[in-house]
Amino acid sequence: MAHKTVSAAQEILEKNEKYIAGGVFSLNRKIDPMRVFVRAKGAYVWDIEGKRYTDYHAAFAPYFLGHADDDVDQAVIDIVKDSASLFGAGTTPWEAELAELLVACVPTLEQVQVTNTGSEATALALRLARAVTGRDGVLLMQGGYNGWEDEVAFNLMDPPERQQPDSEGNLPLNPISAGIPASVNRNVHVVQFNDLEAAERQLAGGEIAAVMLEPILQNVGVVKPEPGYLAGLRRLCDEYGALLVFDEVKTGFRHALGGYQSLCGVTPDLSTFGKAVANGYPMGVIGGKKAYMQHFSHPDPSRRALIAGTYNGHPVTVAATLATLKKLKSREAEIYGHTDRLGRLMEEGLKELFAAQDYPTTVVRQGSAFVVYFMDHAPRDWLDIARHNDMERDVRYRKALLDEGVFHFPVATKQGSISFAHTEKDIAETLEITEKVLAEL
Ligand SMILES: Cc1ncc(COP(=O)(O)O)c(C=O)c1O
Repeated sequence: MAHKTVSAAQEILEKNEKYIAGGVFSLNRKIDPMRVFVRAKGAYVWDIEGKRYTDYHAAFAPYFLGHADDDVDQAVIDIVKDSASLFGAGTTPWEAELAELLVACVPTLEQVQVTNTGSEATALALRLARAVTGRDGVLLMQGGYNGWEDEVAFNLMDPPERQQPDSEGNLPLNPISAGIPASVNRNVHVVQFNDLEAAERQLAGGEIAAVMLEPILQNVGVVKPEPGYLAGLRRLCDEYGALLVFDEVKTGFRHALGGYQSLCGVTPDLSTFGKAVANGYPMGVIGGKKAYMQHFSHPDPSRRALIAGTYNGHPVTVAATLATLKKLKSREAEIYGHTDRLGRLMEEGLKELFAAQDYPTTVVRQGSAFVVYFMDHAPRDWLDIARHNDMERDVRYRKALLDEGVFHFPVATKQGSISFAHTEKDIAETLEITEKVLAEL
């Protein structure tokens, strides 16, 4: 008699559907088809069926040293064994060490505070900018992602028809979540990345407290700033009295120890970090000029910006961050040299493979971060991508790779991330699999 066999994965997914709202923790992790992952080490992740994937998703990018890095994990094991609990009062010997190290790594940081996530860091950056300037407005970029909180959950991957400016050149506001109060709309303004004129029109109104942006748009692939764009924003912020906030949650520590800001040479007023700063442990950082950071402890309570959090600076997270930064700093040339070299091999290999296809593609890369756009030029902004990228082929390509054991997030334009744990052999194998996939795409 035939009977249905239920796989371990199916059983878990069914239970998830029953007990978890939406079927998975953090709904942006829902992929089609769903997979159940159980283990990760270095450049690889394994699903419950025992299938191995070479990982370029890297959990949305934090694993710059690779999964389960021995040095980082050992620091965590040590601190747990030492019974370094959460004290919730006073300080610990490790807070100053971490703050000093962060300031030593990123030249534009004079002082820092920490959170548990990137979203908390960007929310606090906006609060601080408002406390400093006494203004309410924020200016964001279409196609940028700065976290899930109300005032930044706008205008990510909208279709072209929802990016049509009005007669004054303003983009419509497209929330990416229900439940955001309409009152928030008054303070949020959005322009296209790389459009200095649009940014100036908004800043000239005199109500913008902060221009907050990813200095490279890396939640829609790798969209680079045009020459002079970031410097132009710096000049405009100075002219109109707004703070320039670089959200380096994704670019920071991945492109350079000093953040992308150390490569582009533009100094923001405030910066936010997360992800690679702690190689997968939940750490967020906000930092910048002392004159602004001092508003967290302003003597006048009416001008003081609140920062609080039961778990901020948890010894386990601090230990993981210290270990990550010490490794990055002590082996800087080796680590960034290796990841950049692998990035170059990937870029060159992909370009060669795609050149033989009869549809347009463009490979864009910054260091260890790369993407294949299914369009004939490197995009200038999200509107350009929404108009020209072949989203359907893009997703088909990703799913075919996933089936063959190469893990790219199966949503169009999502960035690929190479880690220090990847090897030349991994890249060569990935390119071989890509060649096979392209033959059938
Ligand atoms: C640029 C950027 N800022 C902020 C965030 C939010 O960070 P978290 O998911 O840790 O809250 C992300 C997350 O993807 C991000 O890419």
